[in-house]
Amino acid sequence: MAEFNLRLRRFSPESGAPAHWQDYTVELEPHRSVLEAILQVKATQDGTIGIRCSCRAAICGSCGVMINGRAGLACHTHLDAAAQAAAEDGTIVVEPFNNMPVIKDLIVDMDAVHWNKIARVTPWLINKEPIPDREYIVPHENMVDVTQSMACIQCGCCNAACLSMEVDPLFVGPAALAKAYRFVGDPRDAAHDDRLRDLAEDPHGMYDCTHCFSCIDACPKGVQPMNQIIRLRRKATADYGIVDRNNGYRHEHAFVNNIRKNGLLHEGDLLPDSYGGKFHPRAVPVLLSSLPSITRALVRRKVTPQKALLHPHRKQYKDIRDYFDAVEGRKERVELNLYISGYEDVEGGESQETVAAGSPSAGGSAPGGDPHKSSGGAESAGGGETTA
Ligand code: FES
Repeated sequence: MAEFNLRLRRFSPESGAPAHWQDYTVELEPHRSVLEAILQVKATQDGTIGIRCSCRAAICGSCGVMINGRAGLACHTHLDAAAQAAAEDGTIVVEPFNNMPVIKDLIVDMDAVHWNKIARVTPWLINKEPIPDREYIVPHENMVDVTQSMACIQCGCCNAACLSMEVDPLFVGPAALAKAYRFVGDPRDAAHDDRLRDLAEDPHGMYDCTHCFSCIDACPKGVQPMNQIIRLRRKATADYGIVDRNNGYRHEHAFVNNIRKNGLLHEGDLLPDSYGGKFHPRAVPVLLSSLPSITRALVRRKVTPQKALLHPHRKQYKDIRDYFDAVEGRKERVELNLYISGYEDVEGGESQETVAAGSPSAGGSAPGGDPHKSSGGAESAGGGETTA
């Protein structure tokens, strides 16, 4: 047994008092969870603490909270690890989720934010016609591709960790966008184009993500929501050619061309190139409106005129163009889904190692593709078919 200090954020709307901190001490084995510590305090010291939980085994997704400032499942966080990650005195600080309104103590209103956003992306399959008499036969690599997003337990940790949502509460958010990919990557779904177009055109949609990686850090199930967002974007631009009003398509191409040309990102060119080039009519108002930011960056020496105008690393990284040529010269785009690994049975009885399930982008789900036919291009996903 060891002693652990807990600091819980308390808030009771009926009392009319503002939120405040309350400290407790518990004795438990270090491998026990933060949830067990809170439940022990609730059972033995203070029955008024509000916390939501059910399975206590990282399955139901109910017990998400902020632990030492990071979103996570209380039942999936060991006390010793939490105490080590805490500030100097080892007090484990537990708060309700960020980005969601608090109902009481550690309980947040998931309906108001999380479930509202999930409902926004039409979270069900829209059947392709005609519906087969018996069952859909889905290419194996397509199922591997969506398995990662299917592993989501809807705990909301990614939404609580999302920095973009903190700035823009209307952002559809990582959980809902990962859910959207679950259907955009499914060849049985008939609405890929509509779903992608909708999320590309929405000013709070897929292009609102700033790649901060917080959702990947927070997800207890390895869903990697940010990667699902990148997949949505790749499908929208490369497979469906959606040129959106949010400038996501042009920005992506400007970014890729910038790296191809300069080796490392040359920020001075990125903004104008994202709008068609320095002298394009679309770019002029954006550049003018960015002048205050550019001036601030110059004053604070974040950029220097020399760096802004020259490309000091161009020569050093000139070989990078060969990599671009090799990747872009492939017949099929290969994407790596590192979620599935292990061994799978192949015909003939021998097991085959599956280190990374690569999935060609089309995979039967691009426009005009045959969803019932395996494209056979996966690097190591095997060529079998999965019935779903
Ligand atoms: Fe079910 Fe923690 S109680 S995930």
